[in-house]
Amino acid sequence: MTSAPSSTAARESDEQVANRSAYQAVIERLSKASVDKHWEPYRDIPWDDPEFLVDRADPRWELPEVDKLGGHPWYRSRSPETRAAIGLWRIATAMKIGLQFENLLKRGLLNYAYRLPNGSPEFRYVYHETIEEGHHGMMFQEFVNRTKLPVRGMPGPLSVIAQVAPWIPLISTELFFVFVLGGEDPIDHVQRKVLKDGRVHHPLEETIMRIHIAEEARHISFARHYLRNRVPRMAAGRRLMLGIASPIILGVMARIMLAPPGPMIRRFRIPAHVVSEVYLRNPAAKQEIRDSIGKTRELCAEIGLVNAFTRRIWQAMGIWAAPREPARA
Ligand SMILES: [Fe+2]
Ligand SMILES: [Fe+2]
Repeated sequence: MTSAPSSTAARESDEQVANRSAYQAVIERLSKASVDKHWEPYRDIPWDDPEFLVDRADPRWELPEVDKLGGHPWYRSRSPETRAAIGLWRIATAMKIGLQFENLLKRGLLNYAYRLPNGSPEFRYVYHETIEEGHHGMMFQEFVNRTKLPVRGMPGPLSVIAQVAPWIPLISTELFFVFVLGGEDPIDHVQRKVLKDGRVHHPLEETIMRIHIAEEARHISFARHYLRNRVPRMAAGRRLMLGIASPIILGVMARIMLAPPGPMIRRFRIPAHVVSEVYLRNPAAKQEIRDSIGKTRELCAEIGLVNAFTRRIWQAMGIWAAPREPARA
C-alpha cells in the first residue's frame, strides 16, 4: 500500500494526476498504433515495378510553376530534361538530409531510452519510433540510390556540428524533443504541401511520402505531448534556458531542411542572381521558413517558452509570427 503524502507540497492535485494519466494513455495509444499500422520499405513498396522505376528525365519530377524556383524564368527556360533533373535532385537531397537527421534522432532516442526506469511507458514507444525511423532511413536511401544522383545531404561542417545532437538528451530531454520537432515539422510541412498541390506525382515519390507522413504523425504527436507534459513542470531557470535555445535550434533546423542544395546549384550552374531572388531576397521563401515551424511555434507559446525576451530571439531567427488561432492539439 502506498503511504499518504506527508505534506501538501508532495501531494499531486487531482488535475496533475488526471494530466499524467491522460499523457500515459496517449503514449500507450501511440505504441498500439505503431503495431497496428506500420510499413516496411522492402515489403510494402514495389521498387522494381516498371511504374515505380526512376527515370531522371520523367516530366513528373519537374518543379511546378508555383514553386519558387520552378516559376523562375531561368528554370522555365531550361530543357525539359534539365528541369526534371533539378526537380529530382531536390527531392533526393531532401530525402538524404531527412535520413541524416533521422540517424541523429535515432541515436538520441536510444540515448534517452537507455536511462529510462523500468515500467516507463516511454520506453516501448521510443523503441517503436526508433524502428520506424530505421525503416524511413532505408526507404529514403533506397530512393536516393535509384536516382543515381551524387546528392550529398547536409553540408560537411554542419554535419560535424550535428554530431552533438544525439547527446542532447543527456543535458535536457526537453531540448532534445524541440530538436526532434525542428526536423520533423518542416519535413512534414513540405511533404503534406506536395501531396496537396494537385499535380500528378511519380508513384514512388507519392508512396514514400504517404508512408512517411502517416508514421511521422505519431512521432510529432509524441514529441508534442512529451513537451506539454514536461515543460510546465520545469524549474524556472531551466525553462528560461529552453526558451532561449528553442528558437535558435528551430531557426537553424528549418533552414537546413529548406535551403537550396549547394551541389545542385553548382551542377546546374544556377546563376547567383537566381539563387538570391528565389531563396535569399524572396519574401515567400522567408514565409515558407516561418510556416514550416508554425505548429511548433504555437506549442512553444502554449507551454510558456515565449516571453517578451525570448520572442526577440524568435524574431531575430526570422521565425516569429503572432499566433492567429488557438493552439492545436
Ligand atoms: Fe521519419
Ligand atoms: Fe520521425
